[in-house]
Amino acid sequence: MSLEQQARPLIRADNFIDGRWVAAQSGKRFVVTDPATGECIAEVADSGPQDARAATDAAARALPQWRARLPTERAAVLHRWHALILANQDALAALISLEQGKPLAEGRGEVAYGASYVAWFADEATRIYGDLIPQRQRGKKMSAVKEPIGIVAAITPWNFPLAMIARKIAPALAAGCTVVGKPAEDTPLTALALVQLAHEAGVPAGVLNLIASSRESAVEAVADWLGDSRVRKITFTGSTPVGKYLARESAGTLKKLSLELGGNAPFIVFDDADLDAAVEGLLAAKLRNGGQTCVCPNRVYVQDRIYDRFAARLRDRVAALRVGPATDDASQIGPMINLRAVDKIARHVEDALANGATLLTGGRRLTELGPNYYAPTVLGDASSKMALCGEETFGPVVPLFRFDTEQQAVDAANDTPFGLAAYFYSENPRRIERVSRALEAGIVGINEGALSSEAAPFGGVKESGYGREGSKYGLDDYLSIKYLCQGGLE
Ligand code: SIN
Repeated sequence: MSLEQQARPLIRADNFIDGRWVAAQSGKRFVVTDPATGECIAEVADSGPQDARAATDAAARALPQWRARLPTERAAVLHRWHALILANQDALAALISLEQGKPLAEGRGEVAYGASYVAWFADEATRIYGDLIPQRQRGKKMSAVKEPIGIVAAITPWNFPLAMIARKIAPALAAGCTVVGKPAEDTPLTALALVQLAHEAGVPAGVLNLIASSRESAVEAVADWLGDSRVRKITFTGSTPVGKYLARESAGTLKKLSLELGGNAPFIVFDDADLDAAVEGLLAAKLRNGGQTCVCPNRVYVQDRIYDRFAARLRDRVAALRVGPATDDASQIGPMINLRAVDKIARHVEDALANGATLLTGGRRLTELGPNYYAPTVLGDASSKMALCGEETFGPVVPLFRFDTEQQAVDAANDTPFGLAAYFYSENPRRIERVSRALEAGIVGINEGALSSEAAPFGGVKESGYGREGSKYGLDDYLSIKYLCQGGLE
């Protein structure tokens, strides 16, 4: 069976507003394509501000009843949604691979990963505590209670079309908020399938509303939410320039924001590291989703004494990777999301080579497979004057930088406006303590390349944004604290 046949029962191409599938009010549609072949998968509703407004109206109507539900009732709905996601794991994985391009095994992994946030926040819904504040004056009771913040607008990226929206919708619903959302134009189908399953799980009409829009229409559609004072929170995963735009444009109504933005993760290999473990950790971190992951290492710093050995081992492993479409079970890396992404990768590699990098493997477009494929690449002798040092490549390119001292590595690692993830490998306990404190990042991997978990706080510092997703902290962004002061008690 083709990916499309497996995914077909879950494909929806309209907006989901107030519990119903509806076309965009303008009647416009845009084409969603398979990045492996360029073929059209579906023509999807191309929404504008009227559709965004209709979604907010529905979310506003549904809010009083949803927030009044018992936390255990909201949890039960989320648990049913979680079960339905897992029951549809194969079809969802096929849909993810079809519209996003990642190998099917990774698609399945993403379904399990996204579902884990739903189960996590279902449980967290029942643990939203307040405080009774120790008494300061006789006759007065002071307490703090947590309340849902209100309507949440969730704007999500294409690289994890299921997991990123699940980890925004689940805490919002758990907290008692209602949601309006817009997935990325490259991959709206997985998100639309997910809301169909939420509907089947019993999420009431109006509680969860999703609109799709093309790149051209998205700005105007989202602008409606930014200016609407009923929308109390924006949660966004995507680029830093768009995050800054959302922060600026929503300032007029002072919304709460969670921004999970770009990264430029350093990966440091000290000469006391277990080299095999470091190579494997780097591959796990770097090649997930073909390097199209915000927490992917973008700059790999290797200490002088082990540089040549590390580079040779890495080159051999990377050169053996299988690139191909998701339909081929042997594929380890699929196509990039679109031609713009491949052009950026090619530009970074060309710029690095022009500035003194050496090509250890890869370094070319794989046009024999299709326009969106790029060979996994290792570059030696990278330096700070190369574009790939300052910008996120978002592709399967590993540049190796040489360093001498620990301080040089830490300084170079921190020499970026971004601070999402950082990694390092060392077997020295004192160094581990020092370096994990010195790295300016929201997430630090120590002798480990796979960091993400529903139980851990995910988010960055500096221009990688603010707010945390997942973990016991992840609900805070969807709640506001109300202080109650009761007098006359004596
Ligand atoms: C991302 O790339 O933004 C998310 C990756 C993850 O959740 O691990």
